[in-house]
Amino acid sequence: SDASWLPSLTTETPEEGFALAVKMARVAVKLTQPDAAVRDAGRAAYGGNADSLIAASQVVATHFATVAAANDYWKG
Ligand code: HEM
Repeated sequence: SDASWLPSLTTETPEEGFALAVKMARVAVKLTQPDAAVRDAGRAAYGGNADSLIAASQVVATHFATVAAANDYWKG
């Protein structure tokens, strides 16, 4: 569709913000490796590797920091 995949950084809750952070991380992987077959083949290796999962978590944490700041840490 023509709809933006990232129309806003604003979310109702921190939990939704974290889900958005995961999505941002996954979209980056999809853009950098557009071949779904290659991503499928890579999943078993990173999914079973603790260091890879920690690295993925760190990317999500970086995005979450951005989303949280954009939402003023849901203080409003
Ligand atoms: C599944 C996150 C990197 C390929 C998942 C899942 C999460 C996730 C949370 C499981 C939940 C779901 O299916 O919705 C991330 C993050 C990454 C990352 C945050 C990096 C920052 C990668 C890379 C590859 C990859 C590098 C390919 C080499 C896949 C595939 C699945 C998957 C194919 C689907 C597995 C299935 O349906 O069983 N990823 N991932 N991901 N990831 Fe990643």
